[in-house]
Amino acid sequence: MKLKRIGLLGALYFALVGAENVQAQSIKTFDVDANGKGVAISPHMWGVFFEDINMGADGGLYAELIKNRSFEFDSPFMGWSEIKGGKGSYLVNNIGSINKVANRHFLHLKSDIPDGYGISNEGFRGMGIKKGMQYHFSIKARQTGNSTVGLRLNIVDQAGSVIGSGTVNPQGKEWRDYKVTFTANATVPKAKTNLWMTGAGEIDIDMVSLFPQDTWKERPGGLRADMVQLLADMKPGFLRFPGGCIVEGRTLDERFQWKKTIGKPEDRELIINRWNIEFKHRLTPDYFQSFGLGFFEYFQLAEDIGATALPILNCGMACQFNTGEVVPLDQLQPYIQDALDLIEFANGPVSSEWGKKRAEMGHPEPFKLKLLGVGNENWGPQYIERLKLFTTVIKAKYPEIKIVNSGGTDPSGERFDYLNTQLRAMGADIIDEHYYRPPQWFFSNAKRYDNYDRKGSKVFAGEYAAQSKEIASPINVNNWHCALSEAAFLTGIERNADVVTMASYAPLFAHADGWQWTPDMIWIDNLTAYGTPNYQVQKLYSLYKGTKTIPITMKGKQVTGQDSLYASAVIDADKKEVIIKVVNAMATSQKVLFAIKGIKSNAKGILSLLTAETLLTRNSFESPDEVVPKESQVALQGKNLDLTLKPYSFNVIRLKM
Ligand code: AHR
Repeated sequence: MKLKRIGLLGALYFALVGAENVQAQSIKTFDVDANGKGVAISPHMWGVFFEDINMGADGGLYAELIKNRSFEFDSPFMGWSEIKGGKGSYLVNNIGSINKVANRHFLHLKSDIPDGYGISNEGFRGMGIKKGMQYHFSIKARQTGNSTVGLRLNIVDQAGSVIGSGTVNPQGKEWRDYKVTFTANATVPKAKTNLWMTGAGEIDIDMVSLFPQDTWKERPGGLRADMVQLLADMKPGFLRFPGGCIVEGRTLDERFQWKKTIGKPEDRELIINRWNIEFKHRLTPDYFQSFGLGFFEYFQLAEDIGATALPILNCGMACQFNTGEVVPLDQLQPYIQDALDLIEFANGPVSSEWGKKRAEMGHPEPFKLKLLGVGNENWGPQYIERLKLFTTVIKAKYPEIKIVNSGGTDPSGERFDYLNTQLRAMGADIIDEHYYRPPQWFFSNAKRYDNYDRKGSKVFAGEYAAQSKEIASPINVNNWHCALSEAAFLTGIERNADVVTMASYAPLFAHADGWQWTPDMIWIDNLTAYGTPNYQVQKLYSLYKGTKTIPITMKGKQVTGQDSLYASAVIDADKKEVIIKVVNAMATSQKVLFAIKGIKSNAKGILSLLTAETLLTRNSFESPDEVVPKESQVALQGKNLDLTLKPYSFNVIRLKM
């Protein structure tokens, strides 16, 4: 049976009938050969794609709770409001600021009467505050009047009750940093921060900041630990950053420039986030990039979670879906220099200009950068001619760096064919293919790479996600149908690990109240985060990636959809395991037998079963574990394993060799 995109009726049928209905059908035999010919699997095969979309960084991974902390948004008071009934005023000022280029604005506050004036910050769709958690408040301030004014902050819940507070007492007419730590006495998903002046008078403030104690590794000014943990749990092989279209920018001015994202937070120049206005149906006017999460932090994150860093740089072209601005070829040098400097920033000795900056930020050891992307979803001759200039210069100085090249926006068609031909003719290291397609595409493309060129450029399946509706539709969902189709497709990627050496789902994160693009792998709100069924599929592939593929066939053929079955197999030479991945995309159970050569008789193992009540089942904040793997013991009889594959299931079987 071929799986069709099912509707509600199909799903109901599956829920009520399919699960119980083991078809009267013959047993399907899979021949697996643990000693058979295969190809090595790259240790960084399965990774994660990070982009600051859907409030992935500001309002998400970057744990800062104050929105527009430096008053640098286009509307400098956005995110802030005056507390009702106050006797005083505020003025956005830019004369005498702490950084005349990167941080021009600050706020001048005036209270007409003692304790009479305050302002409030709404956070990123509120602030998630946890009972018993310590919070670190910091601010830059200077006195500007004749009397000395203090500042009291109150974290308040939606009813206005104070759930945590602290006071700072700025002194003197120079900018200085002030800090206070306090403990919250309630858990509130959408709190806000009120900042009151104590006394009467005037004061200047900037870089108003609030972080929880429980950041990842408790780093001050760090990342949300629950979100990083979900990534770490996948043991990803690589971390691609910072995108995505954000690399390109709507205009060249709005492109991602890594050098502006390092150093002290107050010196990182904020810009608009391109997703702010991308979709008319999901406008996000308060979406900016503070770059508190910058290139140093990305490298550090990759290192923390054991992933190889894969930065992607602008190639001298703005997003071709937007302005498509290009840099003239004779003016491309600064862009290429950015690439060379980035490699030095990551790998250079502390005596080098950029290696020194890395060391000053706390990481004298190199980050061991091996991969670098030039361009994201760029296409056409304009891309190829720019890419050639980048490649020549980078390879001359750093021949060991592998360059990831854009394969365009789609996995087929004129643009793709042009790029694929040109890039392969250039001897490109790695081509980044993207597929946002319906589930049926994923099922039918499980054999996509079986006949690819095995000697030339490698493929990076850099962005994929099955779409339950059309691409970028706001009603796309992360249901089991989509995840199952990806699981089926990925058997083909795993089988062809000599062609496809890296793979990642995209986008990675989405905030429930601040997203622009769906589906996404991990959903968050201000307090929690959960993995979708798609996350669970990725995680199983990553955790059990093995070290070498081995043959698995049905009647002598690769298993790419016959009887709605999809399969791949690997061995893990370190753990001494045979690992079989099989998808049953049929609405009924199927009896199967794995006849395994090269394994110990009566070997034991574990089955991780991922399935759902219906194809429409999703995980959610209320039920994050609807679709999670369930483990059970399995044992061979002799060298055979009998299994009944559940309807619509993804099965990962690990057997001790
Ligand atoms: O993942 C969302 C977007 O999809 C990425 O920014 C872009 O590369 C692709 O078009």
